[in-house]
Amino acid sequence: MLFLEIQKVHGREILDSRGNPTVEAWVSVRGPLDGREYTALAAVPSGASTGRFEAVELRDGETRYFGLGVQHAVKNVNEKIASALVGRNALEQVEADRILMETDGTENKGNLGANATLAVSLALARAAARALHLPLYRYLGGCSVRKLPVPMMNILNGGRHASNTVDFQEFMVMPIKAETFADGLRICAEIYHNLKKILEKKGLSTGVGDEGGFAPNLPDAQSALELIVEAVQAAGYGPGQDIGIALDVASSELYNEKTGMYHFPGESSLRGQEVLRDTGEMIAYYEELLEKFPILSIEDGLAEDDWDGWQTLTRRLGERIQLVGDDLFVTNVKRLDAGIKLKAANAILVKVNQIGTLSEALNAVQMAMENGYRAVISHRSGETEDTTIADLAVAMNTGQIKTGAPCRGERTAKYNRLLRIEEELGTAACYMDPFGRM
Ligand code: PGA
Ligand code: ZN
Repeated sequence: MLFLEIQKVHGREILDSRGNPTVEAWVSVRGPLDGREYTALAAVPSGASTGRFEAVELRDGETRYFGLGVQHAVKNVNEKIASALVGRNALEQVEADRILMETDGTENKGNLGANATLAVSLALARAAARALHLPLYRYLGGCSVRKLPVPMMNILNGGRHASNTVDFQEFMVMPIKAETFADGLRICAEIYHNLKKILEKKGLSTGVGDEGGFAPNLPDAQSALELIVEAVQAAGYGPGQDIGIALDVASSELYNEKTGMYHFPGESSLRGQEVLRDTGEMIAYYEELLEKFPILSIEDGLAEDDWDGWQTLTRRLGERIQLVGDDLFVTNVKRLDAGIKLKAANAILVKVNQIGTLSEALNAVQMAMENGYRAVISHRSGETEDTTIADLAVAMNTGQIKTGAPCRGERTAKYNRLLRIEEELGTAACYMDPFGRM
């Protein structure tokens, strides 16, 4: 077995795309063949509509950066994590991640911080790949990798990602019939620009939300979907034929535990009366939207703890569309396992910082796939220039990626990385409709 000795582990505080601090780590390892030092960086993203069951993002809680500083997490990288990992073999990712978990000693990374552990876990994989002179996707996925993911491209933002009146968090287009990833990306960008023109013509705002999608004030989800269909057609594509629509309702943000109802603040403010829906009404609402629009996927259609509701939702819609658990599963195999047993949802959203190590995120993808669930690799609303998730989507063969609009550098960094991977794979590269409707 090759030995890639971990030489240094170093963390620092950097900024994410919302101007909040986050953790970056670099790891250096000794090349097994030439004895040279190879260094790689990784940076951790951060959510806004975070699930209640996510691993802990350690924040300083002091006055600097309004309490959001990550100096304690960085200190954990530089001291506890560095001393636990230096001298070990970077090729043993699972063992290194186990040591991170053991050093932390909690269920939810509450001691070291999942932001500290993840930065190191990802930088470690990147450094190992570099020392072996392999692209990251190849190092993680092996010799058979070839599938480029279909983007779930978020072109209209609402919810916690914008200050408009749209209550659903994300409206996404999926170029399911494109020939290549590059072609799919182009189609999405063309739709995005058409949407901008349509919004301008209607006198609506073309300012963008946290993930780069437009964030106009609209009365409800139906009007957002109508605009998207119009943009798809204006770009010359067939809604439902060339382009599918995906939604992330992020409904845990709408759910009120006291009333047991979903509250729609945007719709309410425009109608001048409170708009509420219970679980049954939410499902009926989705059925109504499915009749009118080519929706292929709904994420977090119900709240993170409404297992009964999720079972009903899956019984009612699971044969027709993809139902993605984000806050429901939080990239956690225990929650995913519970969901599989209950037949709740049929896909998992995989966000590496929800769980805090690379190996655990890979386990979640594997468990999903072994049980007939799809997996979608995802960014967070607060991102950095780090492109690890692009390689991860290719390596794990997930066939789908969620990484925002074709706008804002932290989003395009991932898309551009996928363009480079597709070119590098050459004739081996393949791109296909993840729902198998060829
Ligand atoms: P978040 O949003 O990163 O703010 O949690 C992304 C999502 O809900 O999918
Ligand atoms: Zn989500």
